[in-house]
Amino acid sequence: MAAGKGTRMHSSMPKVLQQLGDRALVQHVIDTAQVLAARNTVVITGHGAEQVEAALTGQPGLRFVRQMPQLGTGHALQQAAPALPPDGITVVLSGDVPLTKPDTLQALIDATQGERMALLTLKMADPSGYGRIVRQADGSVQAIVEHKDASDEQRRIREIYSGIMAVPTQLLLPWLQRLRNDNAQQEYYLTDVVKFAVADGHTVVAQVLTDPVQVAGVNTPVQLAELERAHQQRLALALMTQGVRLRDPARLDVRGQLTCDRDVEIDVNCVFEGQVHLGEGVRIGPNCVLANVTVQAGAVLQAFTWIEGGETGVSVGPRTTIGPFARLRPGARLGAEVHVGNFVEIKNSTLADGAKANHLAYLGDATVGERVNYGAGSITANYDGANKHRTVIEADVHVGSNCVLVAPVTLGAGGTIAGGSTISKNTEPGALTVARGKQVSIPNWKRPTKRQG
Ligand code: UD1
Ligand code: CA
Repeated sequence: MAAGKGTRMHSSMPKVLQQLGDRALVQHVIDTAQVLAARNTVVITGHGAEQVEAALTGQPGLRFVRQMPQLGTGHALQQAAPALPPDGITVVLSGDVPLTKPDTLQALIDATQGERMALLTLKMADPSGYGRIVRQADGSVQAIVEHKDASDEQRRIREIYSGIMAVPTQLLLPWLQRLRNDNAQQEYYLTDVVKFAVADGHTVVAQVLTDPVQVAGVNTPVQLAELERAHQQRLALALMTQGVRLRDPARLDVRGQLTCDRDVEIDVNCVFEGQVHLGEGVRIGPNCVLANVTVQAGAVLQAFTWIEGGETGVSVGPRTTIGPFARLRPGARLGAEVHVGNFVEIKNSTLADGAKANHLAYLGDATVGERVNYGAGSITANYDGANKHRTVIEADVHVGSNCVLVAPVTLGAGGTIAGGSTISKNTEPGALTVARGKQVSIPNWKRPTKRQG
């Protein structure tokens, strides 16, 4: 059911489309139905129907039914009735209750034994507003009485109906036809089917849940944030159970799929989006944002590293170090033992093993060879205002500080580019190239080597 209004979100977006983790609220519910291998998933839309249907369209096994106007939960199910195969079991879920575990629902389905109605219930310290579970002397359920229709005595009952039920469809269909709206809210209450079940001599069982998060709905931004934390807590727990060390599980946000090999450590306030894989022994410093990236074994990402892999992705090779304050954009491919330091931006570029760009630099559309040293303040001028061009920096080149490499250009292997040069023509391997006004190459020039001792 996803037809309700949700005005207290103060949002132009339908409530069920608000994001929790990496998905809309209603998507969590649909995904749970998928885990249960639901034969048929029917989404009842009403308020914001077009937006909800557009957001969910194209998913296999999903059908939409519109409820216009919204005359209650029973009325909602009446609209869905023609779409329900009569030989199945109908499980009623709410589009704004995202964190129900598949195991809980499977247990509820099992409790029907294929022939009786089963309700998911919860004992609450403050049950006001909810439908109360009225039980018979033998403990079986007699009725659900909505708060507004309940007597004072019934209002003292702390067991409430969670909004989730499982019921054999061939029993449900005729009961839906018997619903009336002669109640306090003049709505067709789905909960009235319990009365019909009991009147027809059917047992109604209740499964009492102890974990309220599983049936918690979202009506306000505060509740949305609470469930986001609960969701993140589950993800953090799963990671720690696999052996990932989180400095503080309360300060982690996973909005996608994060997979980790052995011995991974993640500091506080990191956000993971899309598909992220961290290899063995990887260290992630505080305040990193990682989206669509593969990080290989032993790599270290220092504080405030920002990686946005986008559709092409980013890869970080083994034992490579990045940051603090580095930015990797789509198509950055770093080999083994690469060093990317502070305020370095890399886009659509390959850095071979041992290459270094340690400070304040830009590499865009570049192929950088092994052991290249790329100086502070240097940039690739990869865009001429209309097209992008490649810069090739062959192995062992040293690019001094404040160089502008005007693409397309190739810097020959082992060469040195003097600081402050603007290079717009290819350079000779092994040469020292100086370009201030005019580009001059000095062949057979020897780069100074480190003094011994
Ligand atoms: C309902 C139950 C109540 C239970 C509570 C748990 C009824 C009559 N009452 O209360 O016993 O304790 O849930 O949260 O069922 N919806 C529609 N169409 C409608 C009305 C509602 O699709 O015409 C959907 C809503 O979008 C929501 C769900 O049904 O996803 C529940 O509706 P809501 O108004 O939140 O529940 P209550 O009626 O207050
Ligand atoms: Ca209502």
